[in-house]
Amino acid sequence: MSTTKVLMVCLGNICRSPLAEGIFKSKVEDHKIQVDSAGTANYHVGESPDPRSIEIARANGIDISQQKGRQFTQKDFKDFDYIFAMDQSNYDNIIALAETESDKNKVDLILNQLTPDENLEVPDPYYGGKDGFKNVFQMLDKATNVLKEKLLS
Ligand code: 4NP
Repeated sequence: MSTTKVLMVCLGNICRSPLAEGIFKSKVEDHKIQVDSAGTANYHVGESPDPRSIEIARANGIDISQQKGRQFTQKDFKDFDYIFAMDQSNYDNIIALAETESDKNKVDLILNQLTPDENLEVPDPYYGGKDGFKNVFQMLDKATNVLKEKLLS
């Protein structure tokens, strides 16, 4: 069986998608699933995740401190099987770069794993407090449990 490749995408690739990457990686590390993350913007390319994301991950036994921010590119449509956006704006930015129907079909909102077709968003916690990061962690933890079951069944 070949490796399934999953890309988590947010705006800056320092708050939400690094958490999504780290959480999902921790659940599938014994399986043939590759996980990465990216941002639609280039603001934080090469940077470590936000300290608040590193902290909430660490509090849950996950180390995301070695990740480095990168920007989403058109090549990612070729390199990944599934592309999960955190919010509608990320989704729209990704779809705007799609060249084929096959590209578009790879993209969905991550919370549609948990609540299909409801198009709920993982809120951007960047300008808020620590509670926002805890909330993001919990949402992504639940959504990636469902994703794991789906990809491994
Ligand atoms: P993220 O959060 O998209 O979850 O990584 C943000 C990080 C940085 C900015 C916005 C959102 N920013 O405007 O710099």
